[in-house]
Amino acid sequence: MDRFTMEKVRKTFTNGETKEDILKGINLSLMEGEVTALVGASGSGKSTLLTIAAGLQSATEGTIQFDGQNIATMKSDQIRKIRASKFGFVFQFAHLVPFLTVKEQLLLMLDIADSKQKKVDKKKEVDRILKLVGMEHRKDSYPTSLSGGEKQRVAIARAIIHKPKVLFADEPTASLDSKRSREVMALLRDITKTYHIATLLVTHDEEMLIFTDRVIKMLDGKILAESN
Ligand SMILES: Nc1ncnc2c1ncn2[C@@H]1O[C@H](COP(=O)(O)OP(=O)(O)OP(=O)(O)O)[C@@H](O)[C@H]1O
Ligand SMILES: [Mg+2]
Repeated sequence: MDRFTMEKVRKTFTNGETKEDILKGINLSLMEGEVTALVGASGSGKSTLLTIAAGLQSATEGTIQFDGQNIATMKSDQIRKIRASKFGFVFQFAHLVPFLTVKEQLLLMLDIADSKQKKVDKKKEVDRILKLVGMEHRKDSYPTSLSGGEKQRVAIARAIIHKPKVLFADEPTASLDSKRSREVMALLRDITKTYHIATLLVTHDEEMLIFTDRVIKMLDGKILAESN
């Protein structure tokens, strides 16, 4: 099912007198339960597209349809609420809070998402998600004692603990070796299927494409081709 649709999205950056068109009319749909990969050369606009889709920066033109609403015309407060409760994020580095344990990072996320669950249920949910990503045994650990792959597993747990509808992942395996990359990608794919999430994945690593359902190729601010 069509979960998220961008239509005729353009982004222009103005630097003094010069205007640069970075996204030149993007049409893109993300489907429930599918990982959509976004590939293309450095500077082609992948991260710009992802951050605009997630409402982290505004589009110059176009519509971004999610849950029957157009994110592109929403006030920042409204977008913030959607982002915290309906979207999840994974980036190249885990960006865990150094002075919180694994468990505390996830509980904090539930608070940010404004979860109405009781404290005891939140703790149960944290245990369940940590089990899912294979990090249950490290729930009382601080990030400094975790490996890169383990940190990224916690980052994935944090990205899905509030049951997002859309997951945005910008090069989530770029800091990992190939074995850990495959593990993290298998996890992202499985979670996408199990929880019926629409996942947008930016990657430079062709090896990771076997874990995705669709590949969209960008060139110079445009979508060049789409393949299954
Ligand atoms: N805030 C900004 N102001 C001006 N130009 C920007 C801004 N953000 C991005 N750009 C430019 O937009 C282009 C696309 O950048 P973007 O980060 O989206 O590329 P990318 O495809 O993600 O590249 P990479 O694979 O290296 O991460 C680049 O030329 C970049 O310099
Ligand atoms: Mg990028």
